[in-house]
Amino acid sequence: MTTRRVIVAPSVLACDFGRLAEEVRQVEAAGADWLHVDVMDGHFVPNLTIGPAVVEAIRRASRVPLDVHLMLDRPQEFLTPFLEAGAHYLTVHVEAEGLRSESVLRSALDTIRRADARAGLSLRPRTGAEALRPFLDAVDLVLVMTVEPGFGGQAFMPEAVPKVRQLRAWFAGDLAVDGGINALTGRQCREAGANVLVAGTSIFRASSYTDAIRSLRA
Ligand code: DX5
Ligand code: ZN
Repeated sequence: MTTRRVIVAPSVLACDFGRLAEEVRQVEAAGADWLHVDVMDGHFVPNLTIGPAVVEAIRRASRVPLDVHLMLDRPQEFLTPFLEAGAHYLTVHVEAEGLRSESVLRSALDTIRRADARAGLSLRPRTGAEALRPFLDAVDLVLVMTVEPGFGGQAFMPEAVPKVRQLRAWFAGDLAVDGGINALTGRQCREAGANVLVAGTSIFRASSYTDAIRSLRA
């Protein structure tokens, strides 16, 4: 198991959006290290979520780093708006249609780093770890999807665990898991080398945010 401190990143997708600022403050007070923000375009995944204006509102309500996960086919067109809205970590998908060319993907990662943000690269459950390998020198964070991206509340896919272990063997930076993470599945991922746990349902549907975050960290 990794000896690093575990970073818990509640995914605001599972919060009550009608009370967004209050939810952000409560989950921070409960011990959140980062806030994870899921951005979806209705093409890369069959769902639509939030844009830069809402990220900016979250930024104003929060003090912890914002970890923005772009599930977009053409993320390169939206990097600057999300960086200006206050993303500290900005993650794109290696499968994104607009990033098929290696040079375009590298330039997107470079744009993020040049804005003094941290660049992240994510992969879907069906994508092998090898797809990320050529880019690991250009990223600060790797985000392993442990469900098919698009919706919160899905069941963890245990077949992602060996992928986490493989990526940890290659990559010394922040290694995050996202989807179906609770105390039990989070522990399996930490044992495989993950140090960032993204969790929506298991935190925001818990009766105590503090207990839920503590049990992810335990
Ligand atoms: C899914 C998103 C996740 C989602 C996780 O596409 O990337 O961040 O919010 O939600 P839970 O923890 O409910 O699986
Ligand atoms: Zn996510």
